[in-house]
Formats: sequence, C-alpha cells, structure tokens
Amino acid sequence: MTQSGKIRSVGVSNYTLAQMELLCERLGRPPATNQVEFHLLHMEPMYDGTFAQCERLRIRPMAWSPLAGGRLFHADEPAGGRLAAAAAQIGPRYDMAGLAELALAWVLAHPAGPVAVVGTSRPARIRSAAKAARLQLDRQDWYALWEAAQGRRIP
Ligand SMILES: NC(=O)c1ccc[n+]([C@@H]2O[C@H](COP(=O)([O-])OP(=O)(O)OC[C@H]3O[C@@H](n4cnc5c(N)ncnc54)[C@H](OP(=O)(O)O)[C@@H]3O)[C@@H](O)[C@H]2O)c1
Repeated sequence: MTQSGKIRSVGVSNYTLAQMELLCERLGRPPATNQVEFHLLHMEPMYDGTFAQCERLRIRPMAWSPLAGGRLFHADEPAGGRLAAAAAQIGPRYDMAGLAELALAWVLAHPAGPVAVVGTSRPARIRSAAKAARLQLDRQDWYALWEAAQGRRIP
C-alpha cells in the first residue's frame, strides 16, 4: 500500500514488542507510530520495553488517554488526591499550571517523545492542553509527579 502510494505511512495501536518486531520484518521498515496507553496511572510502556523499542526503532509513540480518561480527577481515584496536592506545589513554578496541564507535560517529557492523544472536545480544555505542550517539566518535578502517582518514594 505504501509502495503503490495509496497510503503515506502505517501506524499501529497497542502492539506488543513481538508484534512490532514481526511487522517491521514484514514491512521492511518500522511503522510511523505505536499508539499505547500511557499516563500517570498507567506507566507500563516505560517498563515493559515498549518505549525503549520506540526509541531504538526511532518511532514516535502516541499516548492514548493521557489524562487516564479523566480518572485523574475522580474523587474515588486513590492517586487523585496525592496528584492534586503535588500539582498544587509544582504548578506555581509553571505559570500556575493545574493537574491537567502538568499530567500532560509529564507524558510529553518522556524521552521517547510521546504525542498525547487528548480526548476532550471542550475548547478551554484543548487550549489548556496546548499550553501543556509548551511546559518543560524539570526532572525533579517529573519525579515528584511519578511519586505522587505511585504513592511511594523513588527507590
Ligand atoms: N488505541 C486505543 O486502544 C485507544 C483506547 C482509548 C482511547 N484511544 C484514543 O485516545 C483518545 C483520548 O482518550 P481519552 O478520551 O481517554 O483521553 P483523556 O484526555 O485521557 O481523557 C479525556 C476525558 O477526561 C475528561 N476530563 C476531565 N477533566 C479534564 C480536564 N481538566 N482536561 C481534559 N479532560 C478532562 C474529559 O471530559 P470532557 O470531555 O468533559 O472534557 C474526557 O472525558 C480517544 O479519543 C481515542 O482516540 C485509543
């Protein structure tokens, strides 16, 4: 399809490491992206080799549900209170950014360079997501959000 010019590039979603290796072999080159779940409540791509594979193959991943589908803000989400408290401390250093902006900036700061696939269609929230794309979280604040999400100190 790409060779005949019908499509410019191929992207996949939720591919495992083995599926990606097989696809690369059959295509003869890596796809443009692998869209995977990644946010403060779901960090597996950092640990299971997905992002390392993206970096090795020079694929820019896409992060779906970068705000955990809104669960970050739910009162019954155990990590939500800790993240809100961390955001209240960190936000003033980033132009009074709130938890939504900081959570998106956290996703974007991973060295694999994820592109955040935001789900809201509310203009004000889309504007705040665009603001998040300009935030450069320093490493200490990135880890503070990691710790708040995990509920434990970095070992
Ligand atoms: N490839 C896959 O398997 C897969 C799976 C799931 C999703 N996706 C893709 O990922 C996209 C995004 O997923 P998602 O909707 O779960 O993304 P998300 O951006 O993590 O969550 C959006 C939800 O959070 C709510 N929300 C609450 N407070 C918010 C705030 N301050 N700022 C922004 N949003 C807030 C939104 O409500 P409002 O709408 O009221 O603003 C909306 O319901 C989907 O549209 C889909 O294209 C892909």
